[in-house]
Amino acid sequence: MKYPKEYLDEIKTRLKVSSVVSKSVNLKKRGKEFVGLSPFKTEKTPSFTVNDEKGFYHCFSTAEHGNIFDFIMKTQNLKFGEAVKYLANLAGMQPYMFSKKDEEREKQWNEYSEIFKIYVEFYHNELLKNHDFNFAREYLKKRKLSKDDVLNFKIGFVPFNANFYEKIKSKFSEKNIIDTGLFYFDDKKQIYVERFRDRIIFPINSITGQPIALGGRTIKENNYLAKYINSPETPFFKKGSNLYNLDYARKFSNKIEYIYLVEGYMDVIGLSSQGVENVVANLGTSLTDKQILILNQFYDDLIICFDGDESGYKAALRAAENIIKELKPEKQISFLFLPDKEDPDSFVNKNGKDYFVEFTKKNKVSIHDFIFYHYKNQSKNDPSSLAIFEKNIRMIANSIKDEFIKKYVLEDFLEKLSLLTPNTSKKFSKINYKKAQSLKSTRQHFNEKKNLSAIEIKEFSFLYLVIKNPILVKNNLNLIENVKLFTDENKIIYKSIIEELSKDKEVSINDFSIDPQIMDKIEKFASIKHILNKIENDEYRIIELLEEVVRDIKNNELEIRIEELESKFSKDLNEHTFNEIRELKKLQKTN
Ligand code: UTP
Ligand code: MN
Repeated sequence: MKYPKEYLDEIKTRLKVSSVVSKSVNLKKRGKEFVGLSPFKTEKTPSFTVNDEKGFYHCFSTAEHGNIFDFIMKTQNLKFGEAVKYLANLAGMQPYMFSKKDEEREKQWNEYSEIFKIYVEFYHNELLKNHDFNFAREYLKKRKLSKDDVLNFKIGFVPFNANFYEKIKSKFSEKNIIDTGLFYFDDKKQIYVERFRDRIIFPINSITGQPIALGGRTIKENNYLAKYINSPETPFFKKGSNLYNLDYARKFSNKIEYIYLVEGYMDVIGLSSQGVENVVANLGTSLTDKQILILNQFYDDLIICFDGDESGYKAALRAAENIIKELKPEKQISFLFLPDKEDPDSFVNKNGKDYFVEFTKKNKVSIHDFIFYHYKNQSKNDPSSLAIFEKNIRMIANSIKDEFIKKYVLEDFLEKLSLLTPNTSKKFSKINYKKAQSLKSTRQHFNEKKNLSAIEIKEFSFLYLVIKNPILVKNNLNLIENVKLFTDENKIIYKSIIEELSKDKEVSINDFSIDPQIMDKIEKFASIKHILNKIENDEYRIIELLEEVVRDIKNNELEIRIEELESKFSKDLNEHTFNEIRELKKLQKTN
């Protein structure tokens, strides 16, 4: 029995070749591709390459070649069906249950995609060549769309009196034609009518590039017709699961780190034609977890850029609240807000690609900063509204599924909140009433923090804990011995603290002679302080916290060692180095 193509495509969508292969082969990124030692023979020089863009691997020394299914079948000695089960599981999908209906569905899909193909092709050619549609071409020209844009996006025009149904009814079953959603039945006239008549049409493709739905824009200026209509849900088009232009934009994931998510068809086309081709649109529906998951298969860094008006801002907020729970350590989601009344299309057409990219760098805001300052701006500076504010942002941070990210976002929120609370610091009590101002101050703090490495910040937390609890630490000195710090300044402090604590006498905070400037830094950036404040007298919790931070720092040490070895390995490809990396990675997991 054959697996339906859609099911296999879905697995391919969710899994990059490199992520499947790297489970058993150590891969290094080299330009567009990944390289490593061939799993098919023992070799010293890497001859095995993986190309995510094309979706295959190739081994130059054995001429083995194929997609993820071939790879699993060959390397794990599995039959096709077993490889599908294995990969489906890896992709987080249910195993496929075959039924009699499947064969039926496969036939249905073949007809469905065939109808869409000829439909899109036909009206695309009409728009390009039919003399009667000069006005439609003029409209597109006025909107700054070139002929190349029309060709690249296979844009078409469906005339008012179109009747495609008649053309194809002898070739396809009525049910299959109706299932495409391209026509609806007019009860009064008792005929099938084209849903997209009198509209410019934009084909929406599946991940593999076949058209499966349409968007249509009216070119008439009136208010009784919707400006855009989209295909209804069909057996093969589910709204929250597709993104406009993903089939094309995913191909850049080896070259560009990030992808833009915009609202509309015209935004995608406008950006692409200006040279920003790493862009998709979610097409007027609210952003779903599924869409984020799909984008994350290809890109680690997502930049959401909706229209610079109130509805764009609201849509962005809804998206942020909806997807923050999906934040993962290695993934980033940020928001880019455009000046009032601009959308990505108008903005890039006015300013060009370089400006747009530069504007992004300067102005994007992380998802948690966006949420924090949105709620901040909603609340007044009195105790009750601050309490509600804190409750809201805590609830949002708590909705994050990943435990690590949850912890850090919560700390970040509480840290910002403490800076805003009156009495704590006069310096900060006046800012953050206006959005622009608040963003500036976050950015400043953020930038200051950005100049510090993650390790430094962890080390600050470690030192902070020790300095504030000298007696407790003295009684548990074994906990902090053998910790290796990386930053020179911190090393010195650490050494003097250990010396002080090892002396046979009572200690107090004042015994540590620490450069006040460094102490300032520690006080400012030790993110642990917000947690510590809450557990001030709970010695047991403090010890636990200290153990956690030490573990974190030791892991960092491992990570640096692993990175060193990996870079060594990429040059010498020595098996010994590889084994050492593996051992260290194991150790890292058990820590
Ligand atoms: P916009 O109103 O911002 O349209 O809607 P636009 O993309 O800027 O298009 P132009 O420049 O006016 O032609 C953004 C997206 O929201 C969906 C469409 O997907 C559109 O591209 N939308 C909008 C609808 O589905 N229906 C509508 O009536 C309007
Ligand atoms: Mn718009």
